[in-house]
This record gives sequence, structure tokens and C-alpha cells, in this order.
Amino acid sequence: MTACPSCGDPTPHNGPCPNSLNAELNPLAREQDSWTAKSHILQGRYEIIGRLGQGGMGTVYMARDQRLANRACVVKKLRDDFFRLEDQKKAEEMFEREAHVLSQLDHANIVHVLDYFEEDNGFFLVMEYVEGRDLASILQQRGNPFEESQVVDWACQICDVLEYLHEHDPPVIYRDLKPSNIMFDVKGRVKLVDFGIARAFDPGSEGTHVVSAGYSPPEQYWGEADTRSDVYSLGATCYYLLTGVQPEALHSVSAKLMNPQVSLALDQVVLKATAQNPLDRYQSARELKAALRPETKTKAKSKGPIEAAILIGLVLVTCLAFFAYMRFEELLRKQSEDEQVKDALNSKLKSFSRAQEAEQKAIDGWRLESKQYGSAGSEKKYQHQAAEETAESALTDPDGLAH
Ligand SMILES: Nc1ncnc2c1ncn2[C@@H]1O[C@H](COP(=O)(O)OP(=O)(O)O)[C@@H](O)[C@H]1O
Ligand SMILES: [Mg+2]
Repeated sequence: MTACPSCGDPTPHNGPCPNSLNAELNPLAREQDSWTAKSHILQGRYEIIGRLGQGGMGTVYMARDQRLANRACVVKKLRDDFFRLEDQKKAEEMFEREAHVLSQLDHANIVHVLDYFEEDNGFFLVMEYVEGRDLASILQQRGNPFEESQVVDWACQICDVLEYLHEHDPPVIYRDLKPSNIMFDVKGRVKLVDFGIARAFDPGSEGTHVVSAGYSPPEQYWGEADTRSDVYSLGATCYYLLTGVQPEALHSVSAKLMNPQVSLALDQVVLKATAQNPLDRYQSARELKAALRPETKTKAKSKGPIEAAILIGLVLVTCLAFFAYMRFEELLRKQSEDEQVKDALNSKLKSFSRAQEAEQKAIDGWRLESKQYGSAGSEKKYQHQAAEETAESALTDPDGLAH
């Protein structure tokens, strides 16, 4: 069952949630701070309505875009109260990177970035407004852990987003997966916000050392995060959602120990995802998703025989086509050989009949001569002459073209 994204109630309301996060009515958005006390319009278009949330890097405000029919949007303002100048500079860099990384991504489960600008020495990021709540505040409000099926559903959606990020070119490591950075919207979708420390994976460069205790894996502490680090953070997030207890930093965690309702199978998955050594974890978000939903794996497996049958069919058709082609070629070759033999016989027949003609001519000549002279010796002479003519004719003009 899907919990209400606004108040976390496990029983969905009949109709809209009474605490609905409407752009106009959201009670959180009405919250004021020193910055929102007076009316604020940024870039001549983004009117700040109230405060939505507060993170380590900045404050998130509800706003409306006056240029686009007062469409609801969110403005994130970078903190400007860092004590050391170098920390301020680093924060500005990370903020700019967040805008840059987000602008390159396009996924239904990732918040869309709309604008990024600097005004009055402040840095601002404008994003799509996600109508819903982050998982940390939903859990805090309801006070109880979530149902196992609900957690598995969210975790699988997050696996899909991680797969998208990790297979992006270049791969993006999110690095900050935790309940307060995961929003659950009114359509039942999870949305990742806060790409402040996400960055393209670069094995050569020194990584970020920014960590979230309990959610960051050991390797992130020395700046060596890779795709498996996000798998760890997702495991730790599942632990929190299943138990309501913050995961202990740098410890593999058993959710069943804290909440006996958790099944042994899911407990094992969370334990493996949060293994301290990256080699002992699921090696990818896809692997983790397959472990979370073994039935999808079985379905995928049952597809196997069909795929194998299609493959065998294709191989058979290819073989048949090959043999048919070979047979056709052999027939063609035989036909052309037969024609060559026929031509040779014809040409022999022609030379033979020419020889016969020549011989007949010689005999006729001899008969004529013997009539005139009556000499027997002449017959022999003409026979010899005829044979010589035949041989010569067959050698110099086998096709009888001269005739
Ligand atoms: N696009 C958004 N729509 C609605 N609420 C948001 C949005 N982005 C952030 N929030 C709220 O603001 C809180 C802080 O935002 P976040 O980006 O995580 O800031 P930080 O970088 O300071 O941690 C989030 O936990 C969430 O409750
Ligand atoms: Mg955050």
C-alpha cells in the first residue's frame, strides 16, 4: 500500500490529503525566515512565497514564476554564512556543479533544473517543484517505520535511477543518497533532489570527502567513491526506512535486529548492500534490484527458454538459407559445364562434317578424273589429298567459320 506523501499516513485519503502540499496552501511554504520576511522577486520573475526545507548547503524556497503563468517552482539559495572564505568558495563550486550535473540529466525520478543564476552576491538554483515530501520528514512525522513492501517499491525505483546515473556518459555517482534527499511525490514516484556532491566518475582525480554519517560508505571518507558507494547508501537508507533508526556510521546493519517484522530475506539484502568492503556488496544497482525483487529475476529467467527457441529457430533458418544457396550455385555451375560440353561436341561435329564434305569432294574429283583418264593411281592420289585437306581444315578452322 502507498503511504500518503504529505502526512505519511499508510492509509491513503479518500481524495486529496488535507495537508496537501499545494503551491498556495503548503503550510511549510508559508514558513518565513529573515530572507522571506519581505516580498522577494528574483531575476524579475521568481516570486518567493515561503520556505520549504533546509539542508546543509542551503535553503529551499517555494516560489512562483511570474513569467510563466505563476507556475510553482522551487528556488534553492546557497548558504552564505561560511566562516572561512575557502569553504565559501568550495560551496559555490559544488553548487555550480549541482546545476551543471542536473542540467545534463533527464529522468522521471530526478528533479528537473530550470535556471541557475547569481544575484546580489547570492547563488540560486531554480528547480521543478516536487509536490510531496522527503522520506526523512515523512518518517519523522508518522513516527513508525514503513511497510516492507513500500520500502522495496521505493528501493527498486531508486535502483532504476542509480542505474540511469551509473550508465550515463560519463557515469554520475550520486554520493549523497539518504532519506532527506529522496522525495516522494503525489503520483507515488520517488524523486532524487540535491545533486550538490554528485559528480562524474573520474578514477584519476581526487574525489570529494564530503560524507553523511551513517549513509556514506568507508571508501567515501578517503575520497574513492564509485558506483558501489551508491549501493551502500541505498542499503543504509532502506535500514532507516524499515527501522526508523539512523544507521550507525561505518557499520553493516541488520534491520531485523531492530525491527523483527522485517523478513530474513530483506534483512540479508540490506546487510549485503551495506558491506564495508565494496567487493562484498552488490556490484551494481541492477544486481541489488534483482535481489530486492527475486520474482522479477525468475520472470526474466522463465523468458529464457523462449529466447533460446527464437535463437535456435534463427540458426536453423540461416543454415537452411545457406544450404539452399550452395545447392543453387552447384546447379548453376553444372548447367554452365553442360553447355560447355555441348559447345565442344557441336564444334567437333562441325569439323567432322567438313571433313566428310572434303572427302566427298576428293572422291567426286577422282571419279571425274578416272572417267577422263581411267587411271587407278589417281584414286589413291585424290584419297590422300582429301585426307590432308580434312586435317588442315580441322586444325586451322575448328569452328568452320570460313565455310
Ligand atoms: N524540488 C523540490 N521540491 C520540493 N521540495 C524540495 C525540492 N528540493 C528540495 N526540497 C526540500 O528541501 C530539502 C532540502 O533540499 P536539498 O536540495 O537536499 O538541500 P541541501 O543541499 O541543503 O541538503 C529537501 O529535503 C526537501 O524536503
Ligand atoms: Mg540534502
